[in-house]
Amino acid sequence: MGTAVVTGGTDGIGRALAEEYLRRGFEVLVVGRSARKGKSFADSSERAHFVAADLSLVAENRRLAEQLAQRFPVIDVLVLGARYHRSVRTVTAEGFETNFALFYLSRFLLSHGLAAPLGRAEHPVVLNFGGAGQTGPVQWDDLQLERSYHGVRAMGHAGRLNDLLGVDHVDRHAGAGIRYVLNHPGVVVTSFAGEYDPVTAAEVDHLRIIGKPVATAVAQILPFLEPRVPGPLTAVLEGRRVALEPGLWDLRDARLLHDITSALLAA
Ligand SMILES: NC(=O)c1ccc[n+]([C@@H]2O[C@H](COP(=O)([O-])OP(=O)(O)OC[C@H]3O[C@@H](n4cnc5c(N)ncnc54)[C@H](OP(=O)(O)O)[C@@H]3O)[C@@H](O)[C@H]2O)c1
Repeated sequence: MGTAVVTGGTDGIGRALAEEYLRRGFEVLVVGRSARKGKSFADSSERAHFVAADLSLVAENRRLAEQLAQRFPVIDVLVLGARYHRSVRTVTAEGFETNFALFYLSRFLLSHGLAAPLGRAEHPVVLNFGGAGQTGPVQWDDLQLERSYHGVRAMGHAGRLNDLLGVDHVDRHAGAGIRYVLNHPGVVVTSFAGEYDPVTAAEVDHLRIIGKPVATAVAQILPFLEPRVPGPLTAVLEGRRVALEPGLWDLRDARLLHDITSALLAA
């Protein structure tokens, strides 16, 4: 049938999407840190696979991209769903703010690092849980929020960076025919992986009450992953296509972010 790779596929929306692609007959590889959760997925089918990786580390993303490109000459679907909330700003051993590293740099490295196997698929698609235009502006002078960190804000900011990653990706890999879908699912009751301060923990408890089930979030995004969807870039908010308004989806901004990111990774 095809091959799907799902980061954050050990839990939440990623896990449900991984199971959906298994049902469709795909080879499905999920990436996460929990060996227990990974094993429970891998044990569910001969076509289910798990690779453990800490995707907040650049080196792990590079290793993973190389390993996957060797293992799967063709990748049809790439889902970028790993996330971890931190109320307190932390920095990885490689010196990047952790949320910036996991929620944005990992997706940058895997989107570009797997472009070759994606480009060999008949109808390749990347699903990135970005901001879909719903989050605030880019903090160009403080990309890793050294001066104004808040856990919720950091996730929103990374969502915005991922939106621009999508804009740049479809331009940079135009010849490969890779569609890029940016999805904001709204509030979904998942594991809400993270370390929360008491105020945010109380907010998350509330989200668990008002949020939609994972199955609803999956049903809202699946139609946009189908080959018939027109255009290389699609932004989706809770099952509705979002217009790519000028300004928010500016190619110059997207290229600038690409250049800044490449310089950060090279340093
Ligand atoms: N839930 C919502 O209300 C909501 C709202 C807006 C956007 N979204 C987006 O939807 C996507 C899926 O979110 P979710 O709520 O379904 O996720 P979730 O249930 O919180 O699960 C998070 C996933 O990320 C993985 N992960 C965490 N840290 C990792 C690391 N350092 N390296 C590798 N994997 C790591 C976890 O795997 P392990 O446990 O195996 O480490 C797990 O599979 C995310 O991009 C999220 O931002 C969700």
